[in-house]
Amino acid sequence: MAKHLFLLPGDGIGQEAMGEVRKIIAHMNDAMSADFVTDEGLVGGCAYDAHGAAISDADMEKAMAADAVLFGAVGGPKWDSVPYEVRPEAGLLRLRKDMELFANLRPAICYPALAAASSLKPELVDGLDILIIRELTGGVYFGEPKEIIDLGNGQKRGIDTQIYDTYEIERIAGVAFELARTRKNAVCSMEKRNVMKSGVLWNQVVTEIHKAKYSDVKLDHMLADAGGMQLVRAPKQFDVIVTDNLFGDMLSDVAAMLTGSLGMLPSASLGAPDGKTGKRKALYEPVHGSAPDIAGKGIANPIAMIASFAMCLRYSFNMITEADNLEKAIATVLDQGIRTGDIMADGCRQVGTGDIGDAILKEFAGLS
Ligand code: NAI
Ligand code: MG
Repeated sequence: MAKHLFLLPGDGIGQEAMGEVRKIIAHMNDAMSADFVTDEGLVGGCAYDAHGAAISDADMEKAMAADAVLFGAVGGPKWDSVPYEVRPEAGLLRLRKDMELFANLRPAICYPALAAASSLKPELVDGLDILIIRELTGGVYFGEPKEIIDLGNGQKRGIDTQIYDTYEIERIAGVAFELARTRKNAVCSMEKRNVMKSGVLWNQVVTEIHKAKYSDVKLDHMLADAGGMQLVRAPKQFDVIVTDNLFGDMLSDVAAMLTGSLGMLPSASLGAPDGKTGKRKALYEPVHGSAPDIAGKGIANPIAMIASFAMCLRYSFNMITEADNLEKAIATVLDQGIRTGDIMADGCRQVGTGDIGDAILKEFAGLS
């Protein structure tokens, strides 16, 4: 059956990185009968230049209809002064909102060849493979009231509101337990039940759904601040971490830096399963931005984008062998000492975006 991919390369190095994924898709269609059907649209600054919005309604419809969306990056100094509602980031926010992408998956994988570049001792991170699942559409970033009020006595009051309803916790916990079953079968849920009511409810709901549907998975609870400590003390103790929007924002950035450069970090955002097909809406994107300082020079690291496509193979199309092989190809190329500038090290060979992309494709083709 045809697999529909909607490509939104966006601005800056989003374009260059997506080019390397296009090569892999073409190879999979030609040599592996993968049956990917691709369409492309505009998002971010380039979309604003073309039609005055960070994503058009027509492209939004295509994103909603696709089996998966591959997103590059948006933004850059050229659009710093455009109105707030149509700034490049608005395109990504609209995609997340309209597709209801409530589960943000951020793997922290340490490729052995890069263990020495970690901010931690190599032995703490060598072989690290954890998955942080952040709730993305609720919590304190969206709760109302959200305002600054003037108290009239020379003081002001800033208010944000953390809100989580049962269904929001149930569905994010469900994603965590299901994915844990495909990994090491362990989930650690993090909140602050000692000081937050939403944390008490989070803990209860995760415990209940675990008992009802996922009792085969090992479940631990940890206070989120202790979790932050454990992430830098002994990160390999974790398999899947599930947490709310705010804690997840911070903990996933902490975990990211255990493994090295921004140019290496993929992500996925998943929505609810469709009632009829069971398929989840999904968007895959590198964690990095459009990197205006190096855009157009052909030196960007495409691995974050390629690894995002590997996540797409795994989570949207259940192409586990292909996803494993693509990740193995990345590891092999790093072992060979082929590097872009951002991950360059002594004794390695520095190459450009296209060269490292070609090297990964060659290894991938050899594995399949
Ligand atoms: P950035 O991630 O674009 O770049 C930060 C630094 O990391 C730069 O020095 C850049 O050259 C380097 N870098 C990032 N990705 C790299 C790669 N693949 N290979 C080699 N080096 C890489 O973040 P920055 O500079 O804060 O933001 C630049 C623009 O991107 C801004 O307009 C920002 O709003 C936007 N942005 C967009 C995001 C998205 O589309 N999801 C996320 C973050 C920022
Ligand atoms: Mg962040």
